[in-house]
Amino acid sequence: MQVWLDGRVMPVEEARISPFDRGFLFGDGVYEVVRFFDGVGMAMDLHLARLERSLALAGIVGFTAAEARQAMLAVLQAEGLRDAAVYLQVTRGAAATRTHIPPKGLRPTVFAFASACPPLSSLDAAAGISVVVRPDDRWHRCEIKTVSLMGSVLPMLEAAEIGAEEAILVREGLVSEGSSSNVMALVGDTLVTPPIDAEPSILHGTMRHLALDAAHAEGMKTSVRPLPVSELMQASEVLIVSSRRVLAGVTRLDGRSFGDGSVGPVAHRLIRRMRDGVQSHLAAAR
Ligand code: PDD
Repeated sequence: MQVWLDGRVMPVEEARISPFDRGFLFGDGVYEVVRFFDGVGMAMDLHLARLERSLALAGIVGFTAAEARQAMLAVLQAEGLRDAAVYLQVTRGAAATRTHIPPKGLRPTVFAFASACPPLSSLDAAAGISVVVRPDDRWHRCEIKTVSLMGSVLPMLEAAEIGAEEAILVREGLVSEGSSSNVMALVGDTLVTPPIDAEPSILHGTMRHLALDAAHAEGMKTSVRPLPVSELMQASEVLIVSSRRVLAGVTRLDGRSFGDGSVGPVAHRLIRRMRDGVQSHLAAAR
């Protein structure tokens, strides 16, 4: 496997990161995951803007979105992949020893790799997904896409115990987001999703953005407002959106069948709209 580390592509066996890297010692870094179809990044501009924002909010300097794009394309090419998810992580860098206050002049550590994913035709239908609902015990700055993810991993471990793949997180009775996704619910004839700039915040999801656009294009009503978990439980469809999955429909919740246990029509309509958007983007890029 070929990976990107600090400015170049190399075999993963040659990649060396200092044990004093602040990503390793403090979880002091940020990341992005971008889905590529036929070599073109889905919502790439939104990802790069979010990365710049995460870096700025984290005060990590010395790395730009332009370099991120270059690293992502380089790992795709090195692996000979066109349909893939690319992970890119930027930590504050490696210091000489462990101190909470970072020494001045650190150079960020940049690591990226690609893994194969299904092609665009996989978006012809939305997949079903089994989820659990768990308390959101994470920090309050979830608009920063930090690599410190224990708050997301612990509910995922509980999900895995019953064979579920995602945890929907709830703060004071309101849905915030998934462990690694945003959440939407069809309430009556309206697609409802929680606001991103609430206090505490959630991640400014790229697929949330595209799914809302798709709903508008389909002539659907949408509402960005707090979503009580009681409403989620009664919703006719619950959608999980993220770059890795694009859009999935909840078919099981907390170990029981959700609704009639199948993916609903709105999930299929929206993912097809999103697929058409990627198709037009690919045509324009050629
Ligand atoms: N996760 N919320 C959280 C907490 C996330 O980790 C993610 C993405 C999202 C969805 O963002 P986007 O639609 O831009 O991918 C929302 C990535 C895929 C991951 O951790 O693998």
